[in-house]
Amino acid sequence: MARTFDTLSKCLRAIAQTAPFRSSVTVRYASIAVAVGGVAYAFAWSAGWVTWPSQRARLSAEHVVNAFESSAGAHPGFRRNHAKGICVTGRFESNGAGAALSRAVVFEKGVLPVVGRFSVPGSNPAQMDSAAQLRSLALRLTANDGQQWRTAMNSAPVFSVRTPDDFVKELGAMHTDKATGKPDPARLAEFDAQHPETRTLRDWLANHPPSSGFGNATYYSISAFRFIDSHGAARYIRWSMVPETPFRPVGDAERRDPDFLAHRLVTGLDGGPMRWHLMLAVAQPGDAITDSTRIWPQTADRVRVDAGTLVIEHAQTQIDGPCRNIDFDPLVLPAGIEPSGDPLLAARSATYMESFSRRMAEEVHFARGR
Ligand code: HEM
Repeated sequence: MARTFDTLSKCLRAIAQTAPFRSSVTVRYASIAVAVGGVAYAFAWSAGWVTWPSQRARLSAEHVVNAFESSAGAHPGFRRNHAKGICVTGRFESNGAGAALSRAVVFEKGVLPVVGRFSVPGSNPAQMDSAAQLRSLALRLTANDGQQWRTAMNSAPVFSVRTPDDFVKELGAMHTDKATGKPDPARLAEFDAQHPETRTLRDWLANHPPSSGFGNATYYSISAFRFIDSHGAARYIRWSMVPETPFRPVGDAERRDPDFLAHRLVTGLDGGPMRWHLMLAVAQPGDAITDSTRIWPQTADRVRVDAGTLVIEHAQTQIDGPCRNIDFDPLVLPAGIEPSGDPLLAARSATYMESFSRRMAEEVHFARGR
């Protein structure tokens, strides 16, 4: 399997430098996506985040996706952020303990099928893994009654900025300089000086080297969500996926392989499934609920519930794998989990849909052209 992946991985890298190759089932996928995305879009619209063409002056999903494209170049057919990734499948073994916090069907004792995607942030699907400071994991859990829980997590507990407007400014500051092939350090320093909240993530990254693989990283929801229990009581929760595989920092051996993250995942899965525990952390008075730049302190008396085990069994390339046409919109939530009011959430929902629509449209275009 590792060799098969290696070949596919080389194909992916070659394809990423040229035009995208996709299969021809895209119209069907696009219509499913539009139906699912409609729910998220409705939320983003009601949150006042999505704009119509006549309101272009306001920040819109289109504007954000344009900012990604101008910051790091356009890569048709690929996600506009987290472009490099790999599909995985497995299951979530819910132990029933999460039901104390939320009536969501995903927390009832039982087993749910999972489709996921490991990725690294960035718009270039051929970037070197050694350049990534973060690892990411997106999941779609599907319950028997069809309800879904989608989540997209990063391997740091905080985000760089508090609002989507500041994120667009940060993307502008990260714009790749043609002469050096890197962002202008002075422009980045100026942005950081004007946004002191970015220091929390920068300090965290400075003290937490990236993991040696996807399989030994912890993944965080970052944003808080509102959990409603069976009595109607609400609590704010941040969750994390904590690996059973011990953490090891990335080393020189990994850095020599531009695709070590996918390679290590595939060879690791050849030896058996990988497991994470879904930990639900309950907010305490004073914890930031709508500000993803602030860490929740690790107090000893914080209620933390282990709600079950994520078991990842198989990996497949994103070119032909089951995650390819999923929009891991963080606002596709089962009844019993609601958004918190964190301004990033509505923005993410609308932006992921815009990115998804563009890559789907490009697939249809290329499929027709073949
Ligand atoms: C808590 C903060 C955030 C986290 C944890 C996060 C995480 C992720 C992850 C894991 C993915 C990859 C999903 C996949 O595999 O399909 C992703 C994709 C993406 N993210 Fe975020 N993100 C965050 C904030 C944002 C913000 C603020 C924006 C812009 C407003 C944004 C824009 C995007 C876009 C455009 C994609 C590609 C979506 C697609 O084409 O399916 N993200 N993000």
